[in-house]
Amino acid sequence: MRTPLIAANWKMNKLVDEAVATVSALKPLVAGAAKAEIVVCPTFTALYAVGKALAGSNVALGAQNCYVKESGAFTGEISPQMLKDTGCAWVIIGHSERRQIFKEADALLNEKLKYALSQGLKVMFCIGETLEERQGGIMNDVLSRQVNLGLAGLAESDFANVAVAYEPVWAIGTGVTASPEQAEEAHAFVRGLVEAQFGAGIAQALRIQYGGSVKPDNAAELIAKPNVDGFLVGGAALKADSFAGIVSAVQ
Ligand code: PGA
Repeated sequence: MRTPLIAANWKMNKLVDEAVATVSALKPLVAGAAKAEIVVCPTFTALYAVGKALAGSNVALGAQNCYVKESGAFTGEISPQMLKDTGCAWVIIGHSERRQIFKEADALLNEKLKYALSQGLKVMFCIGETLEERQGGIMNDVLSRQVNLGLAGLAESDFANVAVAYEPVWAIGTGVTASPEQAEEAHAFVRGLVEAQFGAGIAQALRIQYGGSVKPDNAAELIAKPNVDGFLVGGAALKADSFAGIVSAVQ
C-alpha cells in the first residue's frame, strides 16, 4: 500500500509573512489527514520561517531545487546541507521549469538526485513530456530517457526516499489537466520503466505523483487510478483552503 504524497510547489511566490500565514492557516485544515503525507515547498527565503511554523505538525518542509556540492564558489546556488539546516526533509528536483527555463539536463539532474539523497534529503523527481513531444508520438521515448538517465545509479535503499512526479508540461499552469486515463497510462508506463531497471519490488513500492492543474474538484478522480499515488500541486496549492481541499479528496 503506497501512502499518497501530496506536495505544494509554491514556485517563485509568497514573501515570508504570506508564506507563514498560509501554512498557519493550512495546519488545522489538514491536521486530521491521516491517509496522506503532506509537504509544502516554499521559496528559499521563506524556508526557515515556514519550517518553524510547521514544527510539530503533520506537514513536512521541502525546497524546490538544490545543487550538487556542500559549499564553495557556486554563486547563487544552495546545498542540501543548507536546506536541511532550515528544516527541509524534501527537495524537488528536475521540475520542467528547471529543465526548460534553466536548461538543466538529465545528467545534472541525476547528479542532483544522487547528491541530495546522499545528504539525507528525500526527493520528488519530476519528469514529463511537452505537448509537442506528445503530439509527435515520442512521449514514451521522452519519459524513458528521463527515467533511465534520471534514476541511473540509484541503489535499492535510495528508493525509500524517492518519489517520481509525472507532470506533463502541457498541463502545468494551463488549467488543462491530464484526464485520469491519460495520467494512469503514463504512470503505469513509468512504473514499468522502473521495474525494467530496478525490479518489481522497487517499482511497486515507488510513489508516482501526478502534477499539472490539480484542483480540489479533479483530485478525487485522479487519485482513484491505481498508479496515481499523490500530487505535486502548483497554482491550487497557493491558498490553504484549496490545497486542503486536495488533501481531503485523498482521504
Ligand atoms: P500547476 O503546477 O498545479 O499550477 O499546474 C504544477 C507544478 O508545476 O508542479
